[in-house]
Amino acid sequence: MVALSDCKDSNKISTDFPNNYIWGLTFYGKNVSLAVFEHISQIRSWVISQQEQGYSVGFVPTMGALHAGHRSLIELAGRHCDRVVASVFVNPTQFNNSDDLLKYPRTPEADHVLLESAGCHALFCPEVSEMYDDGERTRHWDFGLMTHSLEGHFRPGHFDGVLTIVKKLFIAVGPNKAFFGEKDFQQLAIIKKMTAEEGIPIEIIAAPTIREASGLAMSSRNVRLGSSDRDASIHISKTLLEARSIGRSQPPKVLEKWSYDQLSSAPGLQLEYCSLVLASNFASLENWSDEPSVLLVAAYVGGVRLIDNVIID
Ligand code: PAF
Repeated sequence: MVALSDCKDSNKISTDFPNNYIWGLTFYGKNVSLAVFEHISQIRSWVISQQEQGYSVGFVPTMGALHAGHRSLIELAGRHCDRVVASVFVNPTQFNNSDDLLKYPRTPEADHVLLESAGCHALFCPEVSEMYDDGERTRHWDFGLMTHSLEGHFRPGHFDGVLTIVKKLFIAVGPNKAFFGEKDFQQLAIIKKMTAEEGIPIEIIAAPTIREASGLAMSSRNVRLGSSDRDASIHISKTLLEARSIGRSQPPKVLEKWSYDQLSSAPGLQLEYCSLVLASNFASLENWSDEPSVLLVAAYVGGVRLIDNVIID
């Protein structure tokens, strides 16, 4: 870690902010540096100063334990915007299971390395008290099936925590665009809805799911999978990809049941849900419509909860 005043290569960022620091290191022979802010007032001032200089700002909110999926979001943000901000904040209010919060992987050093090498300019990593100064309270959000079905049903309170923190982060950072992965398809849908309903002037950009070579969707939780769990987890992406190729050659309910049967009989996998719904409103499908639909899955493998989905268009 180097102090701001000691940093020679700070051309990318403005240096007149107290109480922050630059995490400097050499990567692939290139000196890169990341401005790190822990307070809302600091990240807000930094983003405003960039926007005042005419730079657009892209934002990638994360809970850390960063992987190739996050890297692709940072890189996408870098192609869309002049400056990229990431946040790392393990949001306590979106964990409906306290054990899951406790076991959530935390890898701050590796996160810095990934952010810098992916071209991120600033990191916002607040303490819990900075984001929840009046206790860990959430607001309740009701977007019908979008918030109450599937993840909303199986993880009560989860989406209230997600939308509460995403709105707080949007206000704290104030970017031009924000980037979210399609792996969390329902989360992406409710964030788009919340942003529109609250009149927040941030464009939401979706990025495709990044997969491991086996097909397993990248997730911070994957580090908790043992080798036999990894074998079992492959059934998820395999079934989704097969379902996609069967597509509209079968009625929706037949395709949904076929996928459900495949996954509920897969060894080592405890299926929570496997549902085919309309992508726009999460209503279940009796007949194919002109709109895209999405097949979504949640399952436990070796005590780790995995989610994945595929668009059937
Ligand atoms: O997808 C995540 O990592 C989190 O749900 C998010 C959007 C950063 C909010 O805490």
